[in-house]
Amino acid sequence: MNQMGRRRFNQSVLGLSAALTLPTSTRAKPSGTLTARVGLARLVPEGYPETQIWGYDGRVPGPVLRVVRGERLSLRFVNQLPQASSVHWHGIRIDNAMDGVIGLTQQAVEPGASFDIDFVAPDAGTYWYHSHNRSWEQVARGLYGALIVTEPDGAPEVDLDEPLLIDDWRLADDAQIATGFGSLHDAAHAGRIGNWITVNGDPAWSREVARLARLRLRVVNAANARIVTIGMRGFEGWVVALDGMPLDQPAPIEELDLAPAQRADLILDVVADVGDEAILTSLERDGGFVLCGFPVRGQARSERRPPPAPLPANDVPAIADPAGARAVELRMEGGAMGGLHGAMMDGRMLDMRALASAGKVWAFNGTAGMEGTPLVDVVRGEVVKITIINDTAWPHAMHLHGHHFRQVPVQGPPGPLRDTLLVNRRETTSIAFVADNPGKWLLHCHMLEHAAAGMMTWLRVT
Ligand code: C2O
Ligand code: CU
Repeated sequence: MNQMGRRRFNQSVLGLSAALTLPTSTRAKPSGTLTARVGLARLVPEGYPETQIWGYDGRVPGPVLRVVRGERLSLRFVNQLPQASSVHWHGIRIDNAMDGVIGLTQQAVEPGASFDIDFVAPDAGTYWYHSHNRSWEQVARGLYGALIVTEPDGAPEVDLDEPLLIDDWRLADDAQIATGFGSLHDAAHAGRIGNWITVNGDPAWSREVARLARLRLRVVNAANARIVTIGMRGFEGWVVALDGMPLDQPAPIEELDLAPAQRADLILDVVADVGDEAILTSLERDGGFVLCGFPVRGQARSERRPPPAPLPANDVPAIADPAGARAVELRMEGGAMGGLHGAMMDGRMLDMRALASAGKVWAFNGTAGMEGTPLVDVVRGEVVKITIINDTAWPHAMHLHGHHFRQVPVQGPPGPLRDTLLVNRRETTSIAFVADNPGKWLLHCHMLEHAAAGMMTWLRVT
């Protein structure tokens, strides 16, 4: 790779993208690398050892990748891990060949091997990338990072624009990552819930801000399984996008649930006093704790700014005729405390013992894990409506690859565009989308242990 190529890559990916103009008609040569390897991270305070992680470029989170909407991202993924791996670009309505799903869209990238990534980012917003091979282990070890697709114009003016990747680690007393990945006990319950929370790989992440500064915080829940309820103090503001996609109108925020893999773009004004600290918190039944802090030094302006305008919309096809949609049912079963209630499929019982002996504890429509046949085969452009029946005692974060959908509740208007939906225990709800992206697309629970233990299926769009 020549020096010029590297410089241009750096400008593109690290934010100064205006200088980059690559032809979009041809596949670009990779102009940079993303290397998965073992690294050390200071996840815990000084005095404890550093934690051995697996990270992109050896860090956790991996580098923040930035491209302008419509621009091409081309990178050579190099695997220096002791395990085969891949990169998935979560939430990107991507070319199927670049989706990174081992066993469905590509072969695993073996240790020492590489894979050339090359795709156009069609939508502005906050996305993330993570391993999609043994993800219950590899994401837990730190293989994730932020992908920020910036608006070519119409972006809100802010004083600070910062991705915040929340993770929930399970650390042993020596500050090393506890093994036991994909344990069936975790899988049958809430998944691998950890005991140590970091933001951007830091247990006490903080950034100085000025009073009445306006921040754009791009919050990503990168945890394997933990649902985070975000609260705040010393801020007033709005949710302006969910899962990358702008809301029609900014929604005033006090608290917000973020299931694994979900994202929220927040525009927050610092209203804490100078000398004080604004904070984001994780709200728990017993009160909660600080996720990250923003000490207030100085004053950005004398008065609050007017509320922000909506972000410029992305070009996602609208659902013209929801009534004419291809209707599919997805019944979730299994897990602990499920009992036998609801485990009848086509007149037969779901055999939990047989499932568990195969390393599975969950099923979709009576089948555990990804099968040779898709949940549904659709023609490109068809509207698909999937009714999700959560017949389990647990919430699930359902993620569809390659598309954004809207929740279509039994009553009321459709929800905002999302790629991951939290479906509560015993809830029935539907999602609808235009299947406009050809390929094989996973539909799975993003509680990664649930996916590993059976909550995974796929759709084919041709
Ligand atoms: Cu975030 Cu199937 O992925
Ligand atoms: Cu789940």
